[in-house]
Order: sequence, then structure tokens, then C-alpha cells
Amino acid sequence: MITVPLKIAHISDLHFSGRQDRRQLQDFDRLLAHFNTAGFDHLVISGDLSNNADQADWRIVREKLESHGLYHWEKTTVIVGNHDLINLEEEMRFYNALNPLQSVRKKVFERKLAEFCLFFEELITGEKRGNAAFPFVKIINYPSLKIAFVALNSVYPWYPADNPLGARGVISPGQLRALGRESVLASLRGCFVIGLCHHAYRVYGTDSLIDQAFDWTMELKNREEFLSLMNAMDAKLVLHGHFHRFQFYTAQGITFVNGGSFRYTPQRYSELLIDGQGNCDQKFVTLT
Ligand SMILES: [Fe+2]
Ligand SMILES: [Fe+2]
Repeated sequence: MITVPLKIAHISDLHFSGRQDRRQLQDFDRLLAHFNTAGFDHLVISGDLSNNADQADWRIVREKLESHGLYHWEKTTVIVGNHDLINLEEEMRFYNALNPLQSVRKKVFERKLAEFCLFFEELITGEKRGNAAFPFVKIINYPSLKIAFVALNSVYPWYPADNPLGARGVISPGQLRALGRESVLASLRGCFVIGLCHHAYRVYGTDSLIDQAFDWTMELKNREEFLSLMNAMDAKLVLHGHFHRFQFYTAQGITFVNGGSFRYTPQRYSELLIDGQGNCDQKFVTLT
């Protein structure tokens, strides 16, 4: 039987910063309209929806998705990025070296994460679960195959010594444990598994010292643990963003796609075509 491949669009790092930039709003409309006319089954947005951790920017994304009929659990999946949770200027302004109030900052961070999950609950769990929403698994039964999106939060709070730009990432032990359970792995069998996480598995990875310093500020600290989990799940693909570059690479048989940045290249996105046998074709498309 010949089936039409499933079509998934992936964009990342929108970095909305208010509504003044009319061009950016128009570009977003254009892209979403295109996803509809081109017949995409699902859209993934892999974090950094806002530039300054502002709910008003999340609202822009929600409204635009609603106006294009894409604000539905089975149509769109969003995950959180560091810029959705951390406003660097504010962190620095309120930081007091003598009294860092680590636990207070951690609480504020967790509250912000819960706020994101509640704000986008329709696209995350489809029901009210508050801050228990990461990690989440979304299994969608398409006529040709069953897709499982496994979404993790990789944003790590800002700390002056360990995360000075707020851009390093980590997958919490709790998320790794929750997803590594046999019952979860069993529920994924027979699915085409797609991992979602904001941070990159691979940043530059060159020997240059400047690149290494840059890598350190951007890296996913426990990326090998993340990769092991993705392998245990037999994930075929991982979609991420963060490092604003459209890229495609493989690690231990898993294909990683970096969705680049809509903010800087608003006419480009990643297209994934997956057939009923689980064969996947990926390409970056540029609208003209
Ligand atoms: Fe970003
Ligand atoms: Fe980011």
C-alpha cells in the first residue's frame, strides 16, 4: 500500500520582542499560512519564543497559531527555551554576590517554567497539569504510523559562575528517570520516536579555544546522558534549536536537526517527510 508521507514542519528561536516589529509578525503569518497550504500535519517550535522571557511574546505566538487554526494539541507542539525563562538583564540587576538567594532564584525559575506550561497547556499536555508538564510524551496515531514526541526541558537556571549567560543547558535527573522507566519505554514501542529539546547535542565541536569557550556557554551539560536516553527509546530524530544555525548531523545513529532561527532567517524552516515504514527525509526549505 502506498501511503502519503507524514509532513512535519520545524521552526525554532522566534525571539519575539513585542509587536513593534511588524515585519516579523507578517513573516510569521506568511510561514504559518504556508504550512497550511502545503498540507503539513504537525508543527514543532523548539523554544525561545520570546526574547526576554515575556509572556506578552508567548501571547503573540498563541494568537498567530490560533488565527491559522494551528493552536491544537494534535497540530502543534512547543517546548521552552532559555530566553522564555531567563531575562539576563534582570538576573544580573538583582544578583547580589553577598546574598545570592539561590533558593529564591530557583523558585522564581520554576514558577516561570510552570507559567509557560500552563500558558501553552493545549499544545503540551492538552490538559491542566501545571509544572508537571516536563517531560511530556505526545503520541499521535496517524493513518500511516504512530508518532511519539518526547519533549524535555533543557533550560538550566542562570548562575553567575556555572551559567553566566544563562545559555548552558541540562536535563534534570528527574526527567531522565521519569522517561527511562520501563513502562514509558514500553509505551513507545512501535512508535516513530522524535525527541525534542531546546539545547544542541553538538555545538561547534572544533579544537579552536575560542570555539571551545563559546561551546561551554551554550552546551548541554549532560548531553551524553540525553543521548543514552534517546537511544534507549530508539529515537530516530531529535529536533532542537538554541544555536541559531540550520544544521543536520548524526550521533550514534540518531539524526539531529537544528531548526535555526526564525528571528534571523524568517523565510526558512525544516521539513520532515516520514513514510509508513519510518523512512525519513529532511530538508531545509526557503520560501521565496
Ligand atoms: Fe535562541
Ligand atoms: Fe536558546
